[in-house]
Amino acid sequence: MPVMYYTVVTIHVLAAMFWLGSMFFLAVIGAPLLRTIEPPEMRQRLFRDLGMRFRTAGWIAIAVLLITGVFNLYYRGWLHWDGVLGSSAFWHTVVGHALACKLIAVTAMLLVSGIHDFILGPAAGRLEAGSPSALAHRRHAAHLARANAALGVIIVIAAVVLTRGG
Ligand code: HEM
Repeated sequence: MPVMYYTVVTIHVLAAMFWLGSMFFLAVIGAPLLRTIEPPEMRQRLFRDLGMRFRTAGWIAIAVLLITGVFNLYYRGWLHWDGVLGSSAFWHTVVGHALACKLIAVTAMLLVSGIHDFILGPAAGRLEAGSPSALAHRRHAAHLARANAALGVIIVIAAVVLTRGG
């Protein structure tokens, strides 16, 4: 049914824009601005509050991406074991390569987001503001956030090839 299919793809693309767009906004505008805030206690609070809000919205976007992604596979006719997902010939096509790349990058993105959002980020927020260990945690969290943005770009490239490769 095209209307349902178009609706699901539209929601999928909007969720991708929101997730990746927010990440780039935080990296390019939000975090550099917050780093200039004094005193360190205020900076830490703003980082923590912004992080918590983005964590909730970001994981909702990820859930939407995963659910609509599975529907996309269904509407494309790729959600079949026989002749598609269970066939080695499928995984040797351009579409198969793009889908494999996308699924691997999505799995990595889930892992990196989980570590960043539930372990490193909150730990940085609990440490004494401005202390060397808080700064080190924040640096590690920033590296993970950059890795996640890079994974997001890889996922979008794989998605573009996926939709045009078959
Ligand atoms: C398990 C997770 C996912 C699955 C199974 C999945 C699957 C798909 C499929 C099958 C399509 C093709 C839709 C069509 O045109 O018929 C698609 C498109 C797309 N996906 Fe995903 N996706 C997933 C996660 C993501 C994530 C995390 C992102 C965000 C970075 C993303 C971004 C996109 C974009 C931007 C398109 C449109 C590409 C274009 O039209 O050129 N997807 N996805």
